[in-house]
Amino acid sequence: MSTDAIVLLREDHKEIRRLFREFQSANTPARKAAAVRRILPALATYRQREDECMYPQVRSLLPELDRDVLENSEEHHVAEVLCAELATMKPDDERFTAKTTVLIETVTRHITDEEQDWFPQVRKGLGRKQLQDIGARMITLRKNGSGKKKPRTTPTNGAAPKDAAPKQDVVDLLIQQHNQIRDLFLEVETATGKAKHQAFQQLVRLLAVHETAEEQAVHPVARLHLDGGGAIVDARLAEEHQAKQTLAALEEMGPDAPEFPRLLDDLRVSVLEHASHEEAYEFRYLRRDVPAAELRALVKVVKAAEAVAPTHPHPGIESATANTLAGPALSLFDRTKDLVHNTIHRGKR
Ligand SMILES: [Fe+2]
Ligand SMILES: [Fe+2]
Ligand SMILES: [Fe+2]
Repeated sequence: MSTDAIVLLREDHKEIRRLFREFQSANTPARKAAAVRRILPALATYRQREDECMYPQVRSLLPELDRDVLENSEEHHVAEVLCAELATMKPDDERFTAKTTVLIETVTRHITDEEQDWFPQVRKGLGRKQLQDIGARMITLRKNGSGKKKPRTTPTNGAAPKDAAPKQDVVDLLIQQHNQIRDLFLEVETATGKAKHQAFQQLVRLLAVHETAEEQAVHPVARLHLDGGGAIVDARLAEEHQAKQTLAALEEMGPDAPEFPRLLDDLRVSVLEHASHEEAYEFRYLRRDVPAAELRALVKVVKAAEAVAPTHPHPGIESATANTLAGPALSLFDRTKDLVHNTIHRGKR
């Protein structure tokens, strides 16, 4: 297999065009929705390979192409915004097809320009050896990163950033988990057989970790510091409660049930809407109203939740109070909550 970066990116372009044709020839809403579910992760992986491996190297080695790289990166960003909106949209939304069509037109224009104008200039400027090195990095990224989304960054030109990277705070970490949750929904939707069951269990665990950490660490701080914090948090808790009920219903029917895809889609839309409400109405104001040191200190509660959350849905000996009657998924939430609570209080003693 070639490791030439341009060959690899052309292969990505080819696969993306194939998926676009799949959407265009789909003659039912369900087929269109299925095509979009395949398009979104393919585009995420492609963008990551180019944003993290190709663009920074080209900026560093071929400064004369700087303007092109920045424009290409902005085009990726436009596609990313459309993809994020599509991920939270139901297929029967009147804008679903229109938005996908705009995404397809935007990306097609972008990849055609790269192939016709940009790749030839990059090949001429970098040569074979450097393109192979970049390609090898893309392959490693694919193996290690599995296309998981990272926060958007402007491609650097290889120089050290002016400001050292600020230490991660709890908002960074929770937004990162929102992105992981979005990716896992796609994985559950597109996987089959045993892999689908495993992806669903991973999703249940991540939701338990994430919502528990928010409940124990973030919502109380928002309640205390934010103007109207009580109402903001109550609205988020109501959304979380609703999502837990849908999750329990999904678990009861199991990933092989005929109704599973529809209900999973309902859950995906409500969880992603909930996440965007948190980011818009809660996290934004936490950054404005809560001391940065306090937000950084809360990172350890999220990490504690990640570390102690049970890895399997069935209760063991770790919790005597878990509500096992509510089903394994909700019991996993309860057990995570108990374990995080114990961990925090042990830390205070
Ligand atoms: Fe691109
Ligand atoms: Fe939440
Ligand atoms: Fe959240």
